[in-house]
Amino acid sequence: MHNKHLWIAVGLTVALMALVFVAGWMVGRPSKHEAPVEVATTPVDARAVFVPGAGQIDAIRRGVPIDQEGHPPPMAHVENADLKRVRAYPMQPPTIPHAIDGYQIDKNSNRCMLCHARANAATFQAPPVSVTHYMDRDDQFLATISPRRYFCNQCHVVQTDAPVLVANQFRDIDSVLSTPPTAKE
Ligand code: HEC
Ligand code: HEC
Repeated sequence: MHNKHLWIAVGLTVALMALVFVAGWMVGRPSKHEAPVEVATTPVDARAVFVPGAGQIDAIRRGVPIDQEGHPPPMAHVENADLKRVRAYPMQPPTIPHAIDGYQIDKNSNRCMLCHARANAATFQAPPVSVTHYMDRDDQFLATISPRRYFCNQCHVVQTDAPVLVANQFRDIDSVLSTPPTAKE
């Protein structure tokens, strides 16, 4: 019985643990007199698109009264169909026609440039970034991607199936030009 002391220590530890457990259980038990926590506001279902002129203050609130909280809109799905969307105007950064999950861009690596750099475009059949991406602010051409075009997601966004949050009457310049002059205001 050379490890008698060990057994005593183990026994004491187990007893102590049981004591702490019981004490914690007694203290932590919810008291029967406590009132149930009241839910402050019932979230309002707010998935509708904003209608201009409906007396709403903030379009992004999607019609939820300002003293109430709205449901967040459901997460949009990223489209990964390789289908390009038309640009609304010539200088619009094109939306990204593929998913970009896990494509890291940081100080040391730029995943997008793996495919979109001029040198790699042929391998991956990706459109190389245009010449503007190599220009600095003085319109000088650099050998590598310009620092101001390094963080691609600053300008390019993935395509999602999210509905428009705010209705608008934007018209493409082509549709403006094709309108007969007499029909204009
Ligand atoms: C594995 C290679 C690959 C990577 C990585 C990649 N892309 Fe692409 N990208 C493509 C290909 C291929 C296309 C052509 C359309 C298609 O097949 O989806 C494309 C198309 C695009 C387009 C559309 C260009 C146009 O003219 O409409 C944009 C914008 C774009 N990518 C941005 C990005 C951004 C931003 C990243 C990083 C977050 C990125 N891509 C990472 C391969 C890639
Ligand atoms: C400061 C905004 C901005 C940043 C940052 C930026 N782009 Fe662009 N990108 C644009 C604009 C604007 C266009 C369309 C006009 C043009 O080509 O300059 C464009 C065009 C493109 C195109 C289409 C090229 C073509 O010839 O049709 C691709 C592909 C692209 N960008 C990829 C990228 C990638 C990859 C990155 C990151 C390395 C990036 N962009 C960073 C604004 C940006």
